[in-house]
Amino acid sequence: VSQTSHSPRLVRACLREPLDRPPVWLMRQAGRYLSEYMQIREKVPFLALCKNPELAAEVSIQPFRRFGMDGVIMFSDILIPVEAMGMTLEFTEKGPVLPEPIRSVEDINRLSIPDPIEKTGFVMEILKRLRQELSSHPDVGLIGFAGAPWTLASYMLEGGVSRNYTQIKKMMYDEPQELHRLLGMLADTVTQYLNAQIEAGAQVVQLFDSWGGIVSRQLYGEFIHPYHVRIIEGLNREKAPVILYVNGSRGLLDKMAETGADVVGVDWLTSLSDARKQTGNHVALQGNLDPNALYTKPEVLRSLVETMLAEGGSQGYICNLGHGILPTTPIENVQVMVDAVKQSGRNGINPVEELSVGAQRGIQ
Ligand code: CP3
Repeated sequence: VSQTSHSPRLVRACLREPLDRPPVWLMRQAGRYLSEYMQIREKVPFLALCKNPELAAEVSIQPFRRFGMDGVIMFSDILIPVEAMGMTLEFTEKGPVLPEPIRSVEDINRLSIPDPIEKTGFVMEILKRLRQELSSHPDVGLIGFAGAPWTLASYMLEGGVSRNYTQIKKMMYDEPQELHRLLGMLADTVTQYLNAQIEAGAQVVQLFDSWGGIVSRQLYGEFIHPYHVRIIEGLNREKAPVILYVNGSRGLLDKMAETGADVVGVDWLTSLSDARKQTGNHVALQGNLDPNALYTKPEVLRSLVETMLAEGGSQGYICNLGHGILPTTPIENVQVMVDAVKQSGRNGINPVEELSVGAQRGIQ
């Protein structure tokens, strides 16, 4: 990716350009904590919303309109390409359900690697609309995303949100070659899907491995890490940097940095300064506020954000939560968080310097 001051702040942070302040956005920022989202959801079921480019673009813009984040993530779900591979997908109040989960080798044989335009053209349409809507805000970055193979495979095998991950672990131990075959198909699906998103206008892409933290480091190295590498190597990196997010990444951050991702996502179990020690300085970091911090008093939240900004610094850092925002989050606090980050830029100082070298106050 070429480094230019005309790129959105988010892209410049991914490329580790020095900035007056880091960009801020929130994982799952489009969703149920917003009354304007709920108003649309009262009329439209979740999956229908994902497949309606006009409404999905509207829902993606809602948090930006209200809070002014530096990034807009397209509204969709990680399971959209799984449906395109040939599986049945439903959404209930409790989350995604796949009523016909993979139970045999034949079930894997029936899956295909979908053409992203032919099967999920509506996703590309959402991105095109968003780029158009954001053309008057060139400093705001448009984010595309996909689920990573391990997390997608776990949904395909478990049939939905799981507590113990018994099916995928059973397959991992019993038939590792079959699991590798499935993960390989998913890696190719995700690579093509993300490249199509970049082509459609995504300026940054994030790979979500939400269940990447449920196995040992050794098994992570065997079943999870190689597929991150395979996807990242296949992406059109000239056009968009990539963020790798793994939930439960404590002890895995060095492996994540090894993938070649531009940005490593950090959850709240690791401090940003410890994360830097593990990743080295050749990647940017994103994170890592506990989503529950958004339930505290505004002055407590502000100080938590300031501490995080001081650790993150203003080069190679994207301010975010450590995982998705929760549906009952008080929205005033989202504004408090976004404003605190933007305020740190107006002070005209690197927040790290503010804490450690007070004498440099005022020097940019
Ligand atoms: O970030 C955004 O604002 C974009 C939208 C987005 C959604 N899902 C919308 C959504 C993104 C990036 C996702 C990714 C996703 N989906 C992940 C990875 C991120 C993570 O949190 O780890 C996962 C694991 C899923 C699967 C999924 N979709 C679950 C487990 C659930 C139910 C639980 C929950 O949090 O609601 C969903 C449903 C879903 N995806 C909703 C939204 C707004 C709620 C559905 C509704 O409106 O009723």
